[in-house]
Amino acid sequence: MSTTSPASARDRVLIFDTTLRDGEQCPGATMTLDEKLAVAELLDTMGVDIIEAGFPIASIGDFEAVSEIARRSKRAVIAGLARAIPADIARAGEAVRHAQRGRIHTFVSTSPIHLAYQMRKSEDEVVEIILRTVAQARDLVEDVEWSAMDATRTGIDYLCRCVEAAIKAGATTINLPDTVGYATPTEYRAMFEAVRERVPNSDKAIFSVHCHNDLGLAIANSLAGIEGGARQVECTVNGIGERAGNAALEEIVMAIRTRADALPYETGIESTMLTRASKLVSHATNFPVQFNKAIVGRNAFAHESGIHQDGMLKHAETYEIMTPASVGLTKTSLVMGKHSGRAAFRSKLGELGLHLSDNQFQDVFERFKALADRKKHVYDEDIEALVDENLATAHDRIRLVSLSVIAGTHGPQRATLKLAMDGRTLTEEADGNGPVDAVFNAIHALVPHEAVLELYQVHAVTEGTDAQAEVSVRLKDGERGVTARGADPDTLVASAKAYLSALNKLAASARRLHAQDPATA
Ligand code: KIV
Ligand code: ZN
Repeated sequence: MSTTSPASARDRVLIFDTTLRDGEQCPGATMTLDEKLAVAELLDTMGVDIIEAGFPIASIGDFEAVSEIARRSKRAVIAGLARAIPADIARAGEAVRHAQRGRIHTFVSTSPIHLAYQMRKSEDEVVEIILRTVAQARDLVEDVEWSAMDATRTGIDYLCRCVEAAIKAGATTINLPDTVGYATPTEYRAMFEAVRERVPNSDKAIFSVHCHNDLGLAIANSLAGIEGGARQVECTVNGIGERAGNAALEEIVMAIRTRADALPYETGIESTMLTRASKLVSHATNFPVQFNKAIVGRNAFAHESGIHQDGMLKHAETYEIMTPASVGLTKTSLVMGKHSGRAAFRSKLGELGLHLSDNQFQDVFERFKALADRKKHVYDEDIEALVDENLATAHDRIRLVSLSVIAGTHGPQRATLKLAMDGRTLTEEADGNGPVDAVFNAIHALVPHEAVLELYQVHAVTEGTDAQAEVSVRLKDGERGVTARGADPDTLVASAKAYLSALNKLAASARRLHAQDPATA
């Protein structure tokens, strides 16, 4: 296992997390305000240098999230994204105003294909836009990042001209994204080397990598860009993001840490918080983490084959290049059960890095007691699912009161469902082609809606036949899509919770859209 050299010998690489902007932008990954606040708090505590909290002009919800995250930030710089449009920049400036350290991140396309078809502007016009908009941002905040969208498909001469204009107008960070995930590591590194060498004032700015994973090269490209002189990496937890996603934060951090012998850099990230961050983002976005995902996948530290197990028993380093503990994967020290009291439960939450308000604690503790009555051992994953459910359902309009289902070999299956909605209790009985269909038909009868079910998935939170089932449901209503989860030892109750949670999310996003529409404001 590699040892770390003295800090002075290493260049610091800044971690710019865009989970709440580029990550949240991908279909179905929408988060509520509470979920965004929880993610931002964890990123800040974990040592992320810059948190891109959203795109303030995009919606009132985004603006509120960026403003609130800015107000609550302790250490990290809080960035808001803006197109190269005066109104966008003004809105981003307003949103990050209350941060201890705020950043406006403005971008414009530079590649010939984007200029011709998307922007319909000449090269000269775009340079003018860069000068004007970066200067406007710089009048609002000290810290301005400028990005050349589709930089990797931009001719190097023109790219240098744009970077020179951005630095001249006051940009302090220059980001050269591989927007479409097209570059190879050699090309990406060469681009940074050329721009840094050719642009007169390049030493006045920090250069940044931002890589998409369309060809599975996002991490290799990010590391190559660092070798080419970049000292900021833009990434997301679990690699979520547009299409195939962005470079994964946990992979960059652990590559730099584990291969300190080959990569003379360091980050400020507390790596033992990576697992928790991965789980939190996965639950908030309802995007499962693939089992074989590097660093945070369920199998990342599992050794199945006989030869590997034999080696591991003799000496862990035979097949393990980093320890599970270094990414925060620890063996459970305290298994909870129905005799566990408040103090033990509070200490368990602390051990899991979960910090709840008094009201949240009370609610989660009651849910824990109810679960412990039905399940012998309550594992860490069960507790995390309870906390996630509390965060996800805190502002729900529609709640499950009770459900009973008749199922078995002779159909039709029948569900009797009771819901609480806006202070009223509603009851319905419905048949279905199977018990899940019966439950969803009953929900449909009580809450009529147009949304269609796009995904229904069940998995067990832990092992054992008394494990909680975790159900994911994805609903699509026109352009809007949401994914939500529900957990319960009863799969049908978990299914009802997940479906209702998705309906609540759709209703919340419709309310936000309504509030934004000037005609209805
Ligand atoms: O991929 C990209 O080019 C972006 C920019 C907005 C920075 O996300
Ligand atoms: Zn991007």
